[in-house]
Amino acid sequence: MKKSYSFLIGILVLFVINTAMAQKQTAKVLVLIYSDNGGTYELAKEIAKGIESGQNVQATIKQVKASDNPKLKNIPVATVEELATYDGIAFGSPVYFGNISTGMSEFLSKTIGLWTSHALEGKPATVFMSAGSGAGKELALQSFWNSLAVHGMVLVPNGISGYENIDKTIPQGNSVLGTTSLASLNTVERPSKSERYLAEVQGKNFAKVAYALRGDEKVKSGNKAEVAENKIDVNQVLKDKNIVLPSLPKPVGNYELYARSGNLIFINQVALKNGKIVNPGKVGVNVTEEQVKEATAVTMLNVLAILKEAAGGDLNRVKKCVQLIGTFNTPDTYTKHAELMNPASDLTVEIFGDKGKHTRNTSGASSLPVGSSVSIQAIFEVE
Ligand SMILES: Cc1cc2nc3c(=O)[nH]c(=O)nc-3n(C[C@H](O)[C@H](O)[C@H](O)COP(=O)(O)O)c2cc1C
Repeated sequence: MKKSYSFLIGILVLFVINTAMAQKQTAKVLVLIYSDNGGTYELAKEIAKGIESGQNVQATIKQVKASDNPKLKNIPVATVEELATYDGIAFGSPVYFGNISTGMSEFLSKTIGLWTSHALEGKPATVFMSAGSGAGKELALQSFWNSLAVHGMVLVPNGISGYENIDKTIPQGNSVLGTTSLASLNTVERPSKSERYLAEVQGKNFAKVAYALRGDEKVKSGNKAEVAENKIDVNQVLKDKNIVLPSLPKPVGNYELYARSGNLIFINQVALKNGKIVNPGKVGVNVTEEQVKEATAVTMLNVLAILKEAAGGDLNRVKKCVQLIGTFNTPDTYTKHAELMNPASDLTVEIFGDKGKHTRNTSGASSLPVGSSVSIQAIFEVE
């Protein structure tokens, strides 16, 4: 009995060791793009295919900002902070005037926190670009390298890898720095077969480097707390806490669901759920405090659903809840507005952690639109 017990423990220990080793056996690569027309995305798919052609490296394609282009709008949007969690990053962008695109440049300009915390130092990076005629393509690839070198990333070029197998009877986007596609030279479909092949080879070669340099220590010293805090995945929090955001309410007048000014998002909502006002009325007259609190939570969920839309579909892009203003339908002598507002504040902090802490104002009104017992005005800062 004792023998078989130790045997079982032995198996368990082996299983735990194996699992731990299995985790170390894989690397994660982000294929991060900006694209206007989809050319960069086409190359990204080949890069990702190459990365995953071996056994051990997993590729995730994301874009730096949400796009209305039907070809691109379902690609998830990356947060700046998540860059530090990958073992390598393949960056893709259109060529703009012999440089990287403004979309990519805008995103990179937000990585100062990662830079000063050395979060990307030593991680491998490779670049690829979609060009028109190809004018200035190598200048553009090199300009990509400038920013990544400042981050201390390990730059992985193509050299002449794969060159011997491409069709040399037409112009191709091969470059020793990284693959490009000559999108406007469309005697053949672009990216051409050879450009796709080169991108795949680039991905394959890059995966080898990312795998070789993979590390467990994603967060470098100096900024651990900040990066750890930024790593809260709001979408996961919603899932874990079973918080389901409602579908977007429809405006009932000549106004927008939200307005963006700079990085601030402004939203105003009442307790509308499935086309009906939840617990309408005046507190203490035809609705209890508990019912108003329930209406407050419904209203805040509407605010968050709209905020998600405003943040390009990803609440991880929310940097801060700046202010919440709650107005309640109350009798003249009522004083406990703060308690009625707490469900909104609690929900915000529960979801966003420290980023959800906000300033607040509450007040009473003798009536509110469509009979709602509560209305909330919210201001959030997004990336
Ligand atoms: C502002 C701007 C500048 C551009 N400059 C160049 C350039 O210098 N050289 C080039 O070959 N193509 C240039 N292009 C063309 C884009 O690189 C090309 O359309 C690319 O395929 C777009 O990539 P996408 O399909 O991923 O959006 C430029 C395009 C724009 C909008």
